[in-house]
Amino acid sequence: MTQTLTIRRPDDWHLHLRDGAMLQAVLPHTAAHFARAIIMPNLVPPVVTGADAAAYRDRILDALPSGADFKPLMTLYLTEDTDADDVAAAHASGLITAVKLYPAGATTNSASGVANFDKVAAVLERMAEIGLPLCTHGEVTDANVDIFDREAVFIDRVLNPIRRAHPHLRVVMEHITTRNAVEYVQAHDTNLAATITTHHLVINRNHILAGGIKPHYYCLPVAKREEHRLALRTAATSGDARFFLGTDSAPHTDANKLLPCGCAGCFTAPNTMSILAEVFEQDGALDKLEGFTSLNGPAFYGLPANDATLTLTRTAPSYPGHVDTEEGPVTVFDPDIPLNWSVA
Ligand code: DOR
Ligand code: ZN
Repeated sequence: MTQTLTIRRPDDWHLHLRDGAMLQAVLPHTAAHFARAIIMPNLVPPVVTGADAAAYRDRILDALPSGADFKPLMTLYLTEDTDADDVAAAHASGLITAVKLYPAGATTNSASGVANFDKVAAVLERMAEIGLPLCTHGEVTDANVDIFDREAVFIDRVLNPIRRAHPHLRVVMEHITTRNAVEYVQAHDTNLAATITTHHLVINRNHILAGGIKPHYYCLPVAKREEHRLALRTAATSGDARFFLGTDSAPHTDANKLLPCGCAGCFTAPNTMSILAEVFEQDGALDKLEGFTSLNGPAFYGLPANDATLTLTRTAPSYPGHVDTEEGPVTVFDPDIPLNWSVA
């Protein structure tokens, strides 16, 4: 039985760090294991311009524990007023790594997102020209579409038309939750990839709703039926380079989760690597873990893999049940399965 596993240091290709006291409290958990992360721009107000992204990057760097080796990869939040020249300048200077598309109203702090996709066509075309990837929150917001169908409908109604209109646009389907999304990626091998979260590999919708409602398992896109979770597991552990880790670790205080209308998000930064090692071992694919966490993402983004390594040992991990912040405790995602791997 393998007792230790050494892989290239992982990156997180989809992460929420927030700002202020929350940033201070959660950033060390990511920086302890991950070398880089794509930083989501859904602050209040959102990170819309290059100047916003530069200021946010500096706040992140200031919040890093001393000696930490971590690089935030910044993104801009696409709005109907986004200026293509500003985007191109931020890309040319190396400031940003991607642009994030939130359909207006799809999730936390997405009110400034896009309602009319025609209005962002010029920016998308410019991004295609300069090779700047678009990260999509793939859910329609149409109240007539069932929440469990919103990802599949987004692919048909929004994503596929965008990709047909801009065939050179590089797209990352973020935090996919359905077999439909897996199959869409598998069917289109150029300029397309998908991130998969840790929690969507572990929970299905029963975990949220059966036997009492579990607010800490509620995130967006919401976890789907078991058949979809299994499709995600197969994709993640397959070694297919189009699938890679984006934790979507999304901290909210317990006070904001445990409400009549609670926030969406699972906070997985502290225990993601332990959970993933378990998932990949369960599926007989420990040899594919490094590709998923450390190789496939850099390859898609055209970045080198990290030179440093991370070692996991076969020991039950100890990590906190919650992280204290000045705003209150943030509960760490509980995978509800025995974990056998710790980050050394
Ligand atoms: O669960 C989620 N939480 N999904 C998102 O898309 C946003 C995120 C957040 O910012 O809390
Ligand atoms: Zn997210």
